[in-house]
Amino acid sequence: MQEVTENKNYVPTIVAFCCNWCSYAGADLAGTSRLEYPANVKIIRVPCSCRVNPMFVLKAFQRGADGVIICGCHPGDCHYMTGNYYARRRMSLLFNFLNYLGIEKERTRVEWVSAAEGAKFSAVMNDFAKTINALGENKRLQDLRVKEDK
Ligand code: FES
Repeated sequence: MQEVTENKNYVPTIVAFCCNWCSYAGADLAGTSRLEYPANVKIIRVPCSCRVNPMFVLKAFQRGADGVIICGCHPGDCHYMTGNYYARRRMSLLFNFLNYLGIEKERTRVEWVSAAEGAKFSAVMNDFAKTINALGENKRLQDLRVKEDK
């Protein structure tokens, strides 16, 4: 694992895919409980964690994301029974492949957050943002035309 140190001036772009039934509700609970998590975490609601096609992750990195996190229901709690098991396997393969391409493993993460875990959602996002902040800008896979538009 890479050593991480905090960089105070850099604001990373973080994409969080959250399943509708647990993690998105967990994010909602974090909000209604007034728990803080970084504003640069861009949440994309998906029906289930297994809906996240590996291309979505690649596209996020291409479009300038510095970190991508996929949040779903706890194993055994998926609204569609086994969706999160598929997501876990699929993302494990993808993250290894991305690591091979030079995208550090710490830039990608899968987390299970239930609808009752607003505090966990907040803690996970704060921790992930801190890690990405320390890693700095992601230059791999980024489409330079997108960078010019920013
Ligand atoms: Fe939440 Fe499947 S519905 S992971």
